[in-house]
Amino acid sequence: METVPVHELSFAEGVSKNSLTSKKRILSGMRPTGKLHLGHLVGALENWVALQNEFNNFHLIADYHALTTNVETKNLYQHSIEMVIDWLAAGIDPVKSPIFRQSRIKEHAELHLLFSMLITTARLERNPTLKDQVRDLNIDTMSYGYLGYPVLQASDILLYKGDVVPVGEDQVPHIEITREIARHFNNQYGVIFPEPEPRLTKFARLPGLDGNQKMSKSTGNTILLSDSPEEIQKKLKPAVTDPQKIRKGDRGHPDICLVFTYHQKFNATEVPEIRSGCESGALGCVDCKKNCGEKIARALAPMREKRAHYESHLDEVKDIIVDGESRGRRVAEETMKEVHSAMSLG
Ligand code: TRP
Repeated sequence: METVPVHELSFAEGVSKNSLTSKKRILSGMRPTGKLHLGHLVGALENWVALQNEFNNFHLIADYHALTTNVETKNLYQHSIEMVIDWLAAGIDPVKSPIFRQSRIKEHAELHLLFSMLITTARLERNPTLKDQVRDLNIDTMSYGYLGYPVLQASDILLYKGDVVPVGEDQVPHIEITREIARHFNNQYGVIFPEPEPRLTKFARLPGLDGNQKMSKSTGNTILLSDSPEEIQKKLKPAVTDPQKIRKGDRGHPDICLVFTYHQKFNATEVPEIRSGCESGALGCVDCKKNCGEKIARALAPMREKRAHYESHLDEVKDIIVDGESRGRRVAEETMKEVHSAMSLG
């Protein structure tokens, strides 16, 4: 079949063209917590970029979700812009892949409400991601909205009939809940929704600089995508390595060292010699970290120029989001029409 690049079509034509082609859809998003770190890139964003030709991608700024753990709203927009700049710098093409704020498309809230009737509170209380977060963030009381976090996420994904959801490992339980909700809806009211599948990257969980299993803003153990080569070196210096390798000459255990994990990701060709150097003691941690920092900086270098462009053209970023919102809304409205009709609601 002859295909016309989507950007050469008006949006209405684009939608019908897309539904004629058999491209599946991706919906993925992140909470706007500001500048992104390596964990975001390696855990999900790389996959978004890699898959944007094969799929029709939709990318969500999950600002409602951000409220579940932080009700402070005054920085949300600023954080959203910073995050979107990182998405664009990493290679998301906003012509192919609309980018939009959850709070600007009201259908998210409506579908969330309807879905909230299709799942039990007991099921939500069993969610392991919720349990981990409650522990990591020392949450002692839980809002009703926080318990429903995965229900809102299900509405995000299913509103766009996402077939595939590229996310980090911690999000897999949420996709499972999304599948259950889709199944319940389809059984109850007729088949409208796909049962989406998570798509993980090889490094779906990147360890943090403090040795914590996960790089995360809340624990402050991150390397930002926007860090300069000098900042990267500075952050790596105190990073936790094998505690038994105190000085050069000591034999190390690379498999328990987070710097080795970073080498595996950013410096794959030198991995065998780093392993043997570390294990024999010939390679010291100082040199190993310096080399690692250089490789990470090299991997991030292509993003720097793009980021600089968008940072000095903020209006372009804002326009991209406004455009994404009108394109996203069209799809969301279509789905809700089907939902209303299946449920005999109006
Ligand atoms: N819960 C995701 C996170 O914390 C963010 C998110 C919200 C999301 N809605 C989504 C991810 C829909 C994938 C699909 O990273």
